[in-house]
Amino acid sequence: VTVVALVPAAGRGERLGAGRPKALVPVRGEPLLTHAVRGLLASGRVDHVVVAAPPAEVDQVADLLRPLGPAVHVVAGGGERTDSVRLALDAALTFAPAADVVLVHDAARAFTPPEVVRAVVDAVVGGAPAVVPVLPVADTVKQVDADGRVVGTPDRSALRAVQTPQGFAVDLLRRAHAAAEGAATDDAGLVERLGEPVATVPGHPWAMKVTTPFDLAVAEAVLAGEEG
Ligand code: CTP
Ligand code: MG
Repeated sequence: VTVVALVPAAGRGERLGAGRPKALVPVRGEPLLTHAVRGLLASGRVDHVVVAAPPAEVDQVADLLRPLGPAVHVVAGGGERTDSVRLALDAALTFAPAADVVLVHDAARAFTPPEVVRAVVDAVVGGAPAVVPVLPVADTVKQVDADGRVVGTPDRSALRAVQTPQGFAVDLLRRAHAAAEGAATDDAGLVERLGEPVATVPGHPWAMKVTTPFDLAVAEAVLAGEEG
């Protein structure tokens, strides 16, 4: 089995507001992207990594990741996350033509434990064509209309919060992106539109997405605890 991981990292990080692309924001001395790629490689299941960097920062990102070795490649990302994933997926044809499993992992989920990466890969290898790591939802979730009025309360026990890396048979993800119209917030959503089944494995609190300054503070605290 050959596994390629795609890391969309081309976002601007507007909500974090750190004055630079989020992937390059340091946590305990290293950029989020470095933590994210190192975590993928630490799983022992990932053979190639293709990072979609902000177009203006491709050379800087390539320099940053060079110490992680020749399995890591950097290409320019696109305007929306879906575009960045598609560009990395196309580049994977060049860098990892033999790949049969593809992971899509947000740079912003930089502290995902390697165990989660392994669980996703193993589920795909075990025969599930699409796999997402999930956690139970702690908050009650309301559906609202355009005026913010509550129209329903989905049964919380049937809801899951979805993380990355999401894992796919390569051919299925290619088909899903080829058929995709417009952007999607996650890749499994594109697979669902094809009517294909998506399986779940347990996620982990540390696979949280760093979106806001609060999340960055949480990540700093988590890592401080890790390192003692
Ligand atoms: N991403 C990307 N290309 C884009 C937009 C997003 O590769 N055009 C990546 C981000 O770099 C991030 C992941 O997709 O790793 C999840 O996106 P998000 O958390 O929304 O990051 P940003 O778009 O950078 O943040 P914001 O929406 O606050 O600007
Ligand atoms: Mg965004």
